[in-house]
Amino acid sequence: MGKGLKIGLLALILIGTSFVLIACGNQNLSVEKVDDGEQIYILGTDATYPPFENLEDGEIVGFDIDIVKAVAEEAGIKIEVKNTGWDPLFEGINREQIDAGIAAITITEKRKQSYDFTSPYFEASQLIIVPNDSDVNSLKDLEGKKIGVQTATTGDFIVQEAFGKTYQGLKGYDDILAALDDLQLGRIDAVVADNVVLLEYLKVLKNDSFKLVSDDSFEKEYYGIIVKKGNDELLEKLNEGLSKIKDNGKYDEIYRKYFAELN
Ligand code: ARG
Repeated sequence: MGKGLKIGLLALILIGTSFVLIACGNQNLSVEKVDDGEQIYILGTDATYPPFENLEDGEIVGFDIDIVKAVAEEAGIKIEVKNTGWDPLFEGINREQIDAGIAAITITEKRKQSYDFTSPYFEASQLIIVPNDSDVNSLKDLEGKKIGVQTATTGDFIVQEAFGKTYQGLKGYDDILAALDDLQLGRIDAVVADNVVLLEYLKVLKNDSFKLVSDDSFEKEYYGIIVKKGNDELLEKLNEGLSKIKDNGKYDEIYRKYFAELN
């Protein structure tokens, strides 16, 4: 090949690649929607966690949903909440298929390495639910028992921490309702999950065949809304909305709607 031809080919390849690169760069990989020229932010949730998010007649409802709608209104942004499920919520944010997530997500140091959280909007903790006649009175008492958790939640992490990652009795579920079903059926001995969700479960169940057990080692947890790390623009808007609803009484109104009995 002559020198001229070689240079020519090289130039062609270079031009070709840059076209491809430009094309990919322009392609918007996220599913951000535009309505009347205004952006709609897509939020993921896992609507299996009443009273925070749940499906009612096919509609996603709950405390988190009311909160994020109020936040969006105050921040002047349009949002749409999709029921992605738990793991896909995090993956969806990683892949920029969704913009944010609200799902009673506890702010943890580990998660903070991959996502940015808004300021906290709810205080929670873990609780253990066991049949009333169970001899379980602390986390330690769960040793040797079959424990149901929602996989990759703080309940899961607490059990792994206490009894090891490969603990045989640990059963991970895609959602907590499935774990609670198994508890009812006697297939497992206990479930570890967020306090308010278990309180709500007992309330709906309307019987006293189960009891809630706490443990001194259970720390306070705080829920935040997550965005992809570095998405400061959306994070600021969400934080602005949150602080406005905390100031103007809207937060308290929603809180009372769901948790009148907590205070
Ligand atoms: N707060 C717990 C966590 O962040 C559990 C949240 C589960 N949320 C849900 N919508 N399923 O790990």
